[in-house]
Amino acid sequence: MKDLFERIIENKGPLGKWASLAEGYFAFPKLEGPISNRMHFNGQEVITWSINDYLGLANHPEVRKADADAAIDYGMAYPMGARMMSGHTKFHEQLEQELADFVHKENAYLVNYGYQGMVSAIDALVTKNDVIVYDMDAHACIIDGMRLHPGKRFTFRHNDIESFETNIKRAVKNAAETHGGVLVITEGVFGMRGEQGILKEIVALKQQYNFRLLVDDAHGFGTLGKTGAGTGEEQGVQDAIDVYFATFAKSMAGIGAFFAGQKDVIQYLKYNMRSQIFAKSLPMAMVKGALKRLDMIRTMPELKDKLWENVNALQNGLKERGFNIGATNTCVTPVFLEGEIPEAMVMVKDLRENYKIFCSIVVYPVVPKGMILLRLIPTTAHTLEDVDITLKAFSSIREKLEGGVYKKLSASIVV
Ligand SMILES: Cc1ncc(COP(=O)(O)O)c(C=O)c1O
Repeated sequence: MKDLFERIIENKGPLGKWASLAEGYFAFPKLEGPISNRMHFNGQEVITWSINDYLGLANHPEVRKADADAAIDYGMAYPMGARMMSGHTKFHEQLEQELADFVHKENAYLVNYGYQGMVSAIDALVTKNDVIVYDMDAHACIIDGMRLHPGKRFTFRHNDIESFETNIKRAVKNAAETHGGVLVITEGVFGMRGEQGILKEIVALKQQYNFRLLVDDAHGFGTLGKTGAGTGEEQGVQDAIDVYFATFAKSMAGIGAFFAGQKDVIQYLKYNMRSQIFAKSLPMAMVKGALKRLDMIRTMPELKDKLWENVNALQNGLKERGFNIGATNTCVTPVFLEGEIPEAMVMVKDLRENYKIFCSIVVYPVVPKGMILLRLIPTTAHTLEDVDITLKAFSSIREKLEGGVYKKLSASIVV
């Protein structure tokens, strides 16, 4: 028998194997200073394009005050215990009702983290007789929820309605044999490349195939739709989403998440989601802070307007300069370039150190070999000057990339 840790020390895992090259710079970088369009990295100010603080609320003075006041009034512990036992308050309930109203659903239920909540909701919603159909590019929380599902599952090619229909037919046939139902899971916005999920097309097949639809709208909540109610509102199909999910980790600039839907389904989740039944409830500072953020999203449309001014300036500027930004139709702005991992590392170092621009870098296996994805997240806090500086910098690094400068400099890097 082997000592368990022998394997762990030998095989550091798909991400861990990069630690010696990446840690402190590409992985676990320390961005310092108040959350804003300009933060500090490695001792100098950088334009920050890697934070999902879409509406610029993280450091808004009114939000900071609400958070601080709640922490003074309640501390960071209250209420103690799980919601079901002793961790329930009228403010948790108020937040749930306000969230439900905002996304046009009957009821909502808070969860502590989106990731855990999604895993647990999938676990609660289906049994071994039920069948799940989900988009191949779904977020890890959906994939990991699937691991708990003892029944059949089918994936469909990303945003491909033909592949969806092929698989929904399989699922329906299967569920008829097991006397179960079918749950379809997709995302409002795919956060890596910024494409909206094909909700409208999927919803059009709902009656024919009689399935229920769960949508993870982490990136759509607050950013899309006339009122900011998300991708369902944007595509005019919010009513057809049976279980709507969003996290507070993006537009709400906080911690926590929620599910919203019809009353009896939300009631079922309250009594059956193990991640909430067996965990302490959200602290009051988070709840009162979320109430404040939601109020601002509801009453200050100018936050979303400014976000979109920045999104349009950045995306149009990139397109005018001939950059490939894929099929994004949301705030998430991917820039696809060609190059190998060592070149990408040198390029991003140049971008951060010399052009003072901080964005996320994504390489194989998340994108195909030979592709580099630089991912930019515009927010309300950015300025048109930030956009201008960034566009010039991107043109300059592309010239160096295509001219082989980074290839030469990266020759000694072994990955
Ligand atoms: C699409 C999507 N779903 C779920 C989550 C997880 O949410 P949380 O950070 O609240 O755990 C994220 C990331 O935050 C996400 O991008």
